[in-house]
Amino acid sequence: MKIILGGALGRMGKQVTEAAGEAGIEIVCGVDVAYAGQPTEYPIVTSFDQVTAAADVLVDFSRPDGLSELLGLLKRAKLPAVLCTTGYTDVELAQIQEASSTVAIFRSANMSLGINVLCKLVAMAAKALGDDFDVEIVEKHHKMKVDSPSGTALMLYEAVRHERADAQEPVYGRYGRNAKRQPEEIGIHAVRGGTVTGEHEIGFYGNGEELILTHRAENRSLFAQGALRAARFLAGKPAGMYAMSDVVEAILS
Ligand SMILES: NC(=O)c1ccc[n+]([C@@H]2O[C@H](COP(=O)([O-])OP(=O)(O)OC[C@H]3O[C@@H](n4cnc5c(N)ncnc54)[C@H](O)[C@@H]3O)[C@@H](O)[C@H]2O)c1
Repeated sequence: MKIILGGALGRMGKQVTEAAGEAGIEIVCGVDVAYAGQPTEYPIVTSFDQVTAAADVLVDFSRPDGLSELLGLLKRAKLPAVLCTTGYTDVELAQIQEASSTVAIFRSANMSLGINVLCKLVAMAAKALGDDFDVEIVEKHHKMKVDSPSGTALMLYEAVRHERADAQEPVYGRYGRNAKRQPEEIGIHAVRGGTVTGEHEIGFYGNGEELILTHRAENRSLFAQGALRAARFLAGKPAGMYAMSDVVEAILS
């Protein structure tokens, strides 16, 4: 399989380059705004609209600001894509959704299999425990992470909201509030510091009992491996939106 790699010079780009080498996947072209002509393992261009190489899938770990050039490339080259970048706005998410009517797009805010199994467990717990349990999500990441809360925290929030008829918008932190917690709130709290790869904790707090589900990512290579697993899953698929939950369903079925 041949891939094009967005954000090739970034931390995740380097992890994908290493994992692809181990998996026998060829990177035919990298894309990175920071490329300044230095020697690299494969050709790199500075914008998605400069890509001419043919590949089976694009894997992207860059920033949302290159999205319009990226979607232009997908449509022009009929190129399926695994979008791992986080921090997209609702408008950008709608643009991705629109592009998926002509090309296969795989998007997951968290490419780890463990997190996507956690999403299923969280949905099951939210449904079974119901409105009597208060839900609070706490995520921790390294100090270099620019967006907050994490895309994964929002994914977990959606998994709860989907199962809770009364759930409203999330409550981010509680600074300045002078009111009791309302049952329909879903709290989301972000901690940033050091080198924490990623930790997500979902607490269901009931009357006299607590259920806490936690996922810890020990290193970033698991995201690279998950992205390449997604690329293999996506190659040859018809146009549409796909997610890691489809991979979990395929494993379970
Ligand atoms: N889905 C997941 O499982 C997962 C896991 C880890 C990181 N991420 C996300 O992946 C993204 C990258 O993470 P990172 O830690 O590697 O960041 P990073 O800052 O180390 O790397 C990003 C790279 O993208 C490049 N870049 C920035 N804008 C660009 C553009 N418009 N076009 C092309 N390249 C561009 C930068 O020069 C940089 O080299 C972030 O959004 C992060 O949250 C997702």
